[in-house]
Formats: sequence, structure tokens, C-alpha cells
Amino acid sequence: MNKEEKSKINRDDNAFENALKKSVQGHSYIHWTPVEVIKTAADWLGTESDNKILDIGSGVGKFCLIGAMNSRAHFTGVETRDDLVEQAIELKKELKLSNVDFIHSDIVNIDFSEYTSFYFYNPFCEHMALSGGIDDRIQFDEAAFYNYQEFVAEQLKHAPKGTKLVKYCSPDFDISTDFDLTNMYFEGQLQLWIRR
Ligand SMILES: C[S@@+](CC[C@H](N)C(=O)[O-])C[C@H]1O[C@@H](n2cnc3c(N)ncnc32)[C@H](O)[C@@H]1O
Repeated sequence: MNKEEKSKINRDDNAFENALKKSVQGHSYIHWTPVEVIKTAADWLGTESDNKILDIGSGVGKFCLIGAMNSRAHFTGVETRDDLVEQAIELKKELKLSNVDFIHSDIVNIDFSEYTSFYFYNPFCEHMALSGGIDDRIQFDEAAFYNYQEFVAEQLKHAPKGTKLVKYCSPDFDISTDFDLTNMYFEGQLQLWIRR
């Protein structure tokens, strides 16, 4: 990928969508964070090189890849769908980024203590959706939605004071008993929470 193509991806959601393989295109509007939102989130989470950011449910890697292009922090994305992880790794190579990695796994297998900050964009929403899913691999399952969210909230409960969590379009994910809301943007959809 040449310099101009990289620069376009870094500022334009359509350019990012067009850089994806046809087989994983068509989900940007509903499922991947917009570039402008990612830049604010990455800034809030901290751009220092010792910051290790975990994207909980990383999809095609958009948050991690754009974040890594604009930060010295290290980004790790965990994603349960293998084809999305493959796509994310391909783009990482094309963009020649060294501060980003992707793990093909369910979030329940991840050790949260290895990370210093977290990004949460409604990763389990497909368990509550009757339409608009990425594919049919995630079934409607209300109990799974709440169990997964509880798992993440429980991990974050053990995070040290000062740990940052940015959440986007995730009104049902309540961490207010352990974290303080410290910033909001994009009509309140993007929120910065800090462990008290
Ligand atoms: C709303 S998308 C967000 C993608 C990315 N974080 C972004 O902002 O562009 C949520 C992603 O979480 C993934 N996901 C759902 N359940 C998961 C689980 N249990 N473990 C890991 N990833 C999961 C989905 O496959 C989907 O790609």
C-alpha cells in the first residue's frame, strides 16, 4: 500500500471499507467504529508506548489499525471470527504496523491483567439482535449477552486504579460501580471511564 492509500485509510471510512476483501465488506456502518471516533478514543486511552490497549471484539481490526497509525501505544484485538482476524492481520502487514496484534479467540480466554487500557464497542450485541448481524454464526441468546458482559465487568473490577476504559454505543454495559465517567463525545455515545 502506498503512502497516499495509507493516508486515505487514516481519514476516510469508505477508503477503509474499500481496502477490505469483498467477503468481509458491507458491515462498516453498523459494526466498525468510524475513523473520527477511533482517533478520539485512542487519544483518551493514552498514546504512550508503554500503554497496552485491548480491543474487546476487534472485527476486521479497524479500531486497532487506525489507532496504531495514530499512537505509540500497543493495540491488541481479540476476535472470535477467524476470517475477520485473517483480514486484520493482512491489513496490518499492508500498513506495515508493528504496534498492533490480533488474537483469534473468545474473550473469555483472555488474561486482562496483560493490558493497561480497554476499548469496548458493544461486542456482544449480535446476541440481542434479530437482524443486522455480520453472519449467522452468533445466535440470538439473551443469557449469553449478559453473561459475556458480566465476564468483562468482572475482569475490569480487578483492574488497578486509573485503568481506562473507552466504550462506544454500549449503553447496556454498566461499570459505574467501579469506574467514574470522565469524558463524553459524539452525543454521549463515546465515553471515557476511569477505575476509581
Ligand atoms: C461491534 S464489532 C466492533 C469491532 C471493532 N472493535 C471496531 O470497533 O471496529 C464487535 C465484534 O466483536 C466480536 N465478538 C463477539 N463476541 C465475541 C467474543 N465472545 N469474543 C471475541 N470477540 C467477539 C464480533 O465478531 C464483532 O466482530
